[in-house]
Amino acid sequence: MSINIEQIRSDFPILKETVHGKPLVYLDNAATTHKPQVVIDAVSEVYEKYNSNIHRGVHHLSNVCTQAHEDARGKVQQFLNAKHSHEVVFTRGTTEAINLVAHSFGETFLNQGDEVLVTQLEHHSNIVPWQLLEKRKGIVLKYIPINESGELILDNVDELINAKTKLVSLAHISNALGTINPIKEIISKAHTLGIPVMVDGAQAVQHVEVDVQALDCDFYVFSGHKLYGPTGIGALYGKEEWLNKMEPYQGGGEMIKTVSFEGTSYNELPFKFEAGTPDFSGSVGLGAAIDYVNAIGLDNIAQYEQELLDYATERLSTIPNIRFFGTAKQKASVISFLVGDIHPFDLGTMLDKMGIAVRTGHHCAQPLMQFFNIPGTIRASFAIYNTKDEVDKLVDGISRVAQLFG
Ligand code: ALA
Repeated sequence: MSINIEQIRSDFPILKETVHGKPLVYLDNAATTHKPQVVIDAVSEVYEKYNSNIHRGVHHLSNVCTQAHEDARGKVQQFLNAKHSHEVVFTRGTTEAINLVAHSFGETFLNQGDEVLVTQLEHHSNIVPWQLLEKRKGIVLKYIPINESGELILDNVDELINAKTKLVSLAHISNALGTINPIKEIISKAHTLGIPVMVDGAQAVQHVEVDVQALDCDFYVFSGHKLYGPTGIGALYGKEEWLNKMEPYQGGGEMIKTVSFEGTSYNELPFKFEAGTPDFSGSVGLGAAIDYVNAIGLDNIAQYEQELLDYATERLSTIPNIRFFGTAKQKASVISFLVGDIHPFDLGTMLDKMGIAVRTGHHCAQPLMQFFNIPGTIRASFAIYNTKDEVDKLVDGISRVAQLFG
């Protein structure tokens, strides 16, 4: 199937907007993606037609809403090819999912001196929760280093993954560089020592197919809003055997079986980890987003985005004094760069005046910026609705700014 980009663009109402009188060129998709009308409609329909609290009502609307929420869980299960739907826990997003695992896995399994291994290119969301555990429980956080291309250096991985390591937690794809990490290889390596692995899929599920059974990862987490879905909803996939053994994350409604002042017993999976009224409009919107992505096909998306990435890399390379950060052989559609000594903030601000949205700064990956010894970059990140024409506008815009800064 070839992709009809004009058709796809017409699915996203926001793409008709103008910014500072110019057509919007949105290249900040690694931060969040826009929403197709079907997702907006699915969320509206919850509130228009069947809004009601779930899992606790005997009445009609509650049953309809519960069914819609649980159908969405089934869609996430299929999307990730999880074995069971109860291995899918809804969270507010990737950050909350990682914090959940850090807290609950940490409480149950980690003790002073135990090591958690991440990588040098992680988002802060996969660093700080472990540092909180360093303070709370005295664990030790280690990381796999990267090379100048932004690829993991695995030469010494046998020393880093050792008998003290109790969990490996790493990004599938780097948000700041686009590097696709060899997660399957790392999962196999960790599993030879019986060490579980969590994969941060925030930047992956919208670009590549994910099969958690084939990967054999123990946890996989992602956010809805980077997958054309609503904000405030995401998911944690966890193998049943881990989730069953882990302490709950938060206490409250949904997650209990019985409560008395003498003690509380917890609900079964996945509800044990879903305290409070779930975000059922979010889950339904996420389900609609998954349907939307499936209808286009992740293979088609990956192929189209690769073309865009290649085109953008080639065109941007013609700009004098451009420096790319992240030139891994395996890359998703993210390009980070600096031009001469123009501050990323100045370039980003001037591009914005032309209607072009890029992200500037450290991209919540300060240790990575420290590795490159830079304060930040300009990042253009592409989604299924972007076009070569938009890449041309970006290149022309940067060239104009570069001339001004002379
Ligand atoms: N994590 C998001 C980004 O990389 C916000 O922009």
